[in-house]
Amino acid sequence: MTPNDYKAMVDAALEECFRGAESLPYAGLAGAMRYSLLAGGKRIRPTLVLEFCRVCGGEIESALPVACAIEMLHTYSLIHDDLPCMDDDDLRRGRPTNHVVYGECVATLAGDALQAEAFGTILRSALPDERKARCAAFLADAVGLDGMCGGQYLDMLGEGKELDEQELTDINARKTGALLTAACRMGVAAAGGDDGQLEAAARYGAAIGAAFQIRDDMLDVLGTEQELGKPIGSDREEKKNTYMALYGAEHCAEMVLRLTEAAKEALKGVFADTAFLDALADSMAVRMN
Ligand code: IPE
Ligand code: IPE
Ligand code: MG
Ligand code: MG
Ligand code: MG
Repeated sequence: MTPNDYKAMVDAALEECFRGAESLPYAGLAGAMRYSLLAGGKRIRPTLVLEFCRVCGGEIESALPVACAIEMLHTYSLIHDDLPCMDDDDLRRGRPTNHVVYGECVATLAGDALQAEAFGTILRSALPDERKARCAAFLADAVGLDGMCGGQYLDMLGEGKELDEQELTDINARKTGALLTAACRMGVAAAGGDDGQLEAAARYGAAIGAAFQIRDDMLDVLGTEQELGKPIGSDREEKKNTYMALYGAEHCAEMVLRLTEAAKEALKGVFADTAFLDALADSMAVRMN
């Protein structure tokens, strides 16, 4: 399996979601959901689900609904993150943002519906009840009050204020790290993995999650709109607290490398075949989009 194989598998499965709604009175809402879902993200979270399932001896196919679910959830978070009341961005995944095309009301509802459908997709899957319940619980913990929503709240509250490293690290762990950690855990849970595997997956996820947001903050300054598919300079415009503002590019690059090594270290001795996950962490550390 390569990252491209996983991406193709997830893209094909997502293509089938919310189809056939054309004749429904709320077809427009389904269209808005599909617009952002199928705009072509990197599919990192579903890739983590599928690979952690594989390294735990599970059937990749059986985890595909869980992989699609986390991408629905992530897409909801992006639609809401871009709204005028949040980061107020007009480009995402190389396209005008959801609210620019459909308006704020429909964009809000598209996010709401994607969140609910994410949980439904897990709970309607053919996985054994205990496994799907665990997956849903990991996802709920990652995105609720203590997770992504809490982090987004603190991110918003911190605009224009000076936060210290501890506060910034906590925000990043919640708004971004929690969902990436959940992706790894959900892969283990979908395969029926044990507690040792869950713990190692969580440590890997937390480390790549921290690195991921630092890299994202770097790209907001150093990247290009063309490559990123989203605006650059958005953080400065919104007076966000970022590691880039706090420490500058060089220190950020060092932190990303250190966290990437920590992520790979977490897998050692727990999983037999870590080549893919090691390479994925390395590639995320130097990503340009
Ligand atoms: C962007 O996530 C939002 C952050 C958590 C920084 P991705 O960089 O994974 O976005 P897509 O899914 O590839 O568009
Ligand atoms: C977003 O962080 C994290 C989410 C929960 C979506 P950012 O606001 O930095 O993500 P981008 O840069 O808009 O993708
Ligand atoms: Mg944001
Ligand atoms: Mg944003
Ligand atoms: Mg960003």
